[in-house]
Order: sequence, then C-alpha cells, then structure tokens
Amino acid sequence: MEKQRIVFATANLNKLREVREIIGSAYNVVGLKDIACNDDIPETQPTLEGNSLQKAQWVKQHYGVDCFSDDTGLEVEALNGAPGVHSARYANGTHDMAANLDLLMRNMEGVTNRKARFRTVVTLLLGDECHQFEGIVNGHIALRRGGSEGFGYDPVFIPEGESRTFAEMTDEEKNAISHRGRAMRQLADFLKLHDKHS
Ligand code: IMP
Repeated sequence: MEKQRIVFATANLNKLREVREIIGSAYNVVGLKDIACNDDIPETQPTLEGNSLQKAQWVKQHYGVDCFSDDTGLEVEALNGAPGVHSARYANGTHDMAANLDLLMRNMEGVTNRKARFRTVVTLLLGDECHQFEGIVNGHIALRRGGSEGFGYDPVFIPEGESRTFAEMTDEEKNAISHRGRAMRQLADFLKLHDKHS
C-alpha cells in the first residue's frame, strides 16, 4: 500500500532528513520544494505557537494539503526568555547566525545564572483537525563556544546532565534529547494512533 503523503512546511533539508528518520516509516514526508512552494512564508506572530500555526495555515490554505510545521526558540532565563521567538533574527533583524551568537555571548558576559532551554512547537493540520506538540530541552549557556557540528546556537548550549555542547555531539546524540526530536516524536506517536483509529 502506498504511504500517505504529508507536507513538512520547511525548506531546510537537514530538518527534513531528521524528521523522516522519526516518522518516515508510516508516512511519505515531503518538504516545501516537493510541492513547488518557494514562498517567503510570513512569521509575524509574537509566540512560537502563533508562528508555527501561521506557517502551517499558509501551506494548507495555499496548497490544500495536510501538513505540519515547526518553530523553535532559545529561551534564556537571565534575559527574560530572549532571544525566544526572535532567535533567528536576534541581532539586527537579519538571519545572521554569527551576529546572533556574538550578541548572545555579549549579553551573557558576567551573568552567573546561565539557565536556558530550547523549545519547539509543532503544529499539525490534518483534515479539519489542528494539534500542537511541544518539545523542551533544559540546559545552560556555556561560558565559551565549543564544537562544530549542528547549527544555530548549538556551540553554546549544554543540555542538562551533559558536559558537551550540542555542537560537540553527533546528530544522533542530539536528536535523542533535543527539543525538536521530542516534539517530532510526539507528532509521530499521534500519527500512529490516528492511523489505527481511521
Ligand atoms: P526555526 O524556527 O527552526 O527556524 O529556528 C529559529 C532559530 O532558532 C534558528 O535560526 C536557529 O538559530 C535557532 N535554532 C533552532 N533550532 C536549533 C537547534 O536545534 N540548535 C541551535 N539553534 C537552533
């Protein structure tokens, strides 16, 4: 029997590969490129929940397909939850990751409370249903950068119970405990149950 197709509202091929590994056995997960969507999808909401929903709704409305989307933020306690929903554009509003990291480390200079967490919100639009799943990994901001794996804020984030940053771990090690891994596994469990009942 042919696998049911579901669109992941992302153009990021690394994320697509990661998620296929988690839910790919039951579903044919395709990305935005596969439905010829090159839109600059708006992310103008003040929360991860809002942005995640906005992206999924855009795809559903414009392409008429079942889909899911994700939105992630790094929330630092001493910075009142910043960069949070602005993680991608923390420094000067652009997608400049080197500048984002520099700004974060400058803002954390001399700060002793280094507690932080990554949070991902996944939104699933399936038929008329809408469901959200949250994945969190607690940890802290390192005093200095370490590692060259991963992306984004990985070189400065040390998950709880670890001494290494995410950028010092393999993909597999990171996915097993990461925010996105946790949210996506909830999505996978939901889809499995849903299939059983449909
Ligand atoms: P997005 O919602 O996945 O696009 O993530 C927003 C921003 O959060 C990205 O630009 C990254 O800077 C950061 N980010 C998201 N996921 C991760 C991660 O797994 N590690 C490090 N940084 C991340």
